[in-house]
Amino acid sequence: MCGIVGYLGKGYAQAPLIDGLRRLEYRGYDSAGVAFHEGNEFSLARETGRVKNLADSVQKNSSSSSLGIAHTRWATHGAVTVSNTHPHMSQDGKFVMVHNGVIENYGILKKFLVSKGIKFSSETDSEVLCNLIAYHYSELPTGEDRFIDAVRLALPQSRGAYGIVILCVDYSDTMIGARRGSPLVVGLGEEANFIASDASAFVGRAKEAVFLNDGELSIISGKNFRITTMEGEEAKAVAHPVEQISEEVELGDFDSYMEKEIFEQPTALENTLRGRFGDDGTTAKLGGLEGHEDELRNLDRIIFVACGTARHACMVGEYLIERLARVPVEVEHASEFRYRNSPKAGKSLVIAVSQSGETLDTLEAVREAKTKGLLTLGITNVVGSSLARETDGGVYQRVGPEIGVASTKAFSSQACLCAMLGLALGRMRDLSPTDGQAIVQALNDLPDLVTKVLQQGEQIRELAIKYSKAEHLLFLGRQSLYPVALEGALKLKEISYAHAEGYPAAELKHGPIALINPDCPSVFIVEGSSLSSKTIANMQEVKARKGPVLAIAPDNVEIPEEAVDDIFRLPVVHEVIRPILANLPLQLFAYHFARLRGLDVDKPRNLAKSVTVE
Ligand code: F6R
Repeated sequence: MCGIVGYLGKGYAQAPLIDGLRRLEYRGYDSAGVAFHEGNEFSLARETGRVKNLADSVQKNSSSSSLGIAHTRWATHGAVTVSNTHPHMSQDGKFVMVHNGVIENYGILKKFLVSKGIKFSSETDSEVLCNLIAYHYSELPTGEDRFIDAVRLALPQSRGAYGIVILCVDYSDTMIGARRGSPLVVGLGEEANFIASDASAFVGRAKEAVFLNDGELSIISGKNFRITTMEGEEAKAVAHPVEQISEEVELGDFDSYMEKEIFEQPTALENTLRGRFGDDGTTAKLGGLEGHEDELRNLDRIIFVACGTARHACMVGEYLIERLARVPVEVEHASEFRYRNSPKAGKSLVIAVSQSGETLDTLEAVREAKTKGLLTLGITNVVGSSLARETDGGVYQRVGPEIGVASTKAFSSQACLCAMLGLALGRMRDLSPTDGQAIVQALNDLPDLVTKVLQQGEQIRELAIKYSKAEHLLFLGRQSLYPVALEGALKLKEISYAHAEGYPAAELKHGPIALINPDCPSVFIVEGSSLSSKTIANMQEVKARKGPVLAIAPDNVEIPEEAVDDIFRLPVVHEVIRPILANLPLQLFAYHFARLRGLDVDKPRNLAKSVTVE
């Protein structure tokens, strides 16, 4: 992994490929490379660091080729070096390939190839796959289908996940892509066709996008394009327009995508909510759940599977759904669920939540749930993503592309959809129309309330200035604000590299309190319920040990002066939207904290936007 673009067209490949890589930068990477078909050979340019380094180097030796592939790599096998950077060339110089994913049995395959006299110049699993294809090619008779046949012979021998695009020097107008577990999309334009890991790579250059399914190959030959199965049968190609996403990926007046996406949240939430309430104004109506009403009414438990920020949104859902619908809810790390032999108690529903819809751990959890015969639903932001296609039903977040590596608007919309799900399930069970109506009202008020909180951004910037020297911070909250504490800590550590931990506020005294000292601030997210007095008592425990305390608290909660150093006030709202509002100052806190340290919030070190490896 991480970003792939391939170009075959009438014009020069260089500019669209470099531009495509720039558009994929948001996914996170540590090196970048490009290969061009130059008639009898391939030319290759690879650089560690930013795409800009690659662009500068390519500029010096411009290519006039109209066929090429490019890649941004996020290291999995082998260090961040030029030789490990993609594209990889087979030893015989016949093939160049870019690869996202992990070939799990690359060791065995490499041994086999070494026994055939093949030498390797990198530590990567990808170079092994490229050479395996070259090996099969060398064994096949000459003929029109030799290239595709070599690909079809090699891929079934590899275990693990891949999205690859490969070129063969003997085919000057053919580009082949193949997918298993790692997304690939074909872009169809008038002047050129593309194969990329993400449609944003060819926005503005291709009119239609066709998403590949697992086990499919896309063969672009001259102006023609087809999709087949691994066995060679023609597969159906469903085209989606790409124009609609072009404006949404522009940065506009903002300094970073993270900032843009934080401030986009009122609109993003309006879109998440639009048209999703019943006519009587007492329930939520989620189209993707239609046809499953009986199963939903008779559920015995819900299991959420997700990773990272998406899992925190699910935890918010756990508190809300149990409260509103009285259905037992569990939230699992998708990577754990997959390998855990969880008993199939009663009628369980598995809900997978993933902004990208391509997180491999989450997809594998869904596949495991399906193997066990469980009903699966997906909450995802990306239309046509693997999650959307593989679940039995689901709901789109509709917040537009999230480019910043640190997830912000996606969390808010996922938590919002969990509240809507709780409302819908609650109304199918015992939630009264009056309670339903109050929740609908609260959800409808959410976008304006988000605007109001974001307008206080300057106060958060000042707080970030005050606390930005800290290297260790604790985030503490109770009930549905506990996941908000986890999310606040995650956001801070991933973009500022300060060490931050989230805990339920009462857990403090069971261990973490040992960390408290004047250099370790605690951020308390205070609920507006009867529990707030307990949280204030926890704040006092911190103050008694000379720990600085910052509270995020509703307007109506009185906090004694001696319990707190700083307070950021939130409007008093219904409990279903409280976690979403309470999370906003923490997003801004992390953002300013990282910016004050001079860090690039959109490209935090070591992180990738879409994690398509286990
Ligand atoms: C954190 C973050 C990650 C993702 C996680 C799951 O800011 O972005 O923790 O939430 O990798 O990604 P999706 O939602 O695409 O499955």
